[in-house]
Amino acid sequence: MRTPIIAGNWKMNKTAVEAAAFISQIRDGLNAVSGVDIAVCPPAIAIPAVAEAVKGTKIGVGAQNMYFEESGAFTGELAPNMITPFCQYVILGHSERRAYFGETDEGVNKKIKAALAHGLTPMVCVGESLEQNEAGETHSFVSGQVKAAFAGLTADQAAACVIAYEPIWAIGTGRTATVEQAGSIIGGTVRATIAEILGDDVAQQIRIQYGGSVNEKNIAELMAHPDIDGALVGGASLKPTFVDLVANAA
Ligand code: PGA
Repeated sequence: MRTPIIAGNWKMNKTAVEAAAFISQIRDGLNAVSGVDIAVCPPAIAIPAVAEAVKGTKIGVGAQNMYFEESGAFTGELAPNMITPFCQYVILGHSERRAYFGETDEGVNKKIKAALAHGLTPMVCVGESLEQNEAGETHSFVSGQVKAAFAGLTADQAAACVIAYEPIWAIGTGRTATVEQAGSIIGGTVRATIAEILGDDVAQQIRIQYGGSVNEKNIAELMAHPDIDGALVGGASLKPTFVDLVANAA
């Protein structure tokens, strides 16, 4: 049985003070929900404040990015051991990082290995653009992203990861993929590719989230699909109604 996981990706929103105040608003509500793993992923500078604010609850903390080197001349980056005192998760390869900050499949693969070596759970993002979707390239593109991300990983390492399938055209647009679309790519492409490269056992163990305009109204329908193991939530994780979203997911 795969425990679903709902993660809030706050992106570049909320100062450390705002983040801690928001956690005090939502923490009891989130902590009361059972049957689903929960994580919030604040901007890096707010991570310590959020980690402090969730102490004693079941709410996990994730970083939105991380570098794969241990230390050195990498201005502006965070090493794995800088986030591990506060985080259990790290989002890697988000489409915004790929599009605006030049993240490559190869870099994502190195980051996954570094995260796992430090005991972090990577939440690995994949997903196609609108053009690729309309050109019928979704399956081959997303399958290629999964293969590149998981290259060289053992079955056990892969099983410890979470994958977020986030079609780029659904992110922040209010245009959610239908349950059929999301479920068929998650099952027929993402899980099937993991089975192809790492075997059926891993494919059945690994948790695969959907992401893209998920909200408190559409989450239950998405979660009803047997292949969808939770969600990576952007905009709807910034409001107190995130508690309803998580409750409706459980
Ligand atoms: P959204 O973002 O829920 O605002 O569409 C999802 C994400 O990018 O992780």
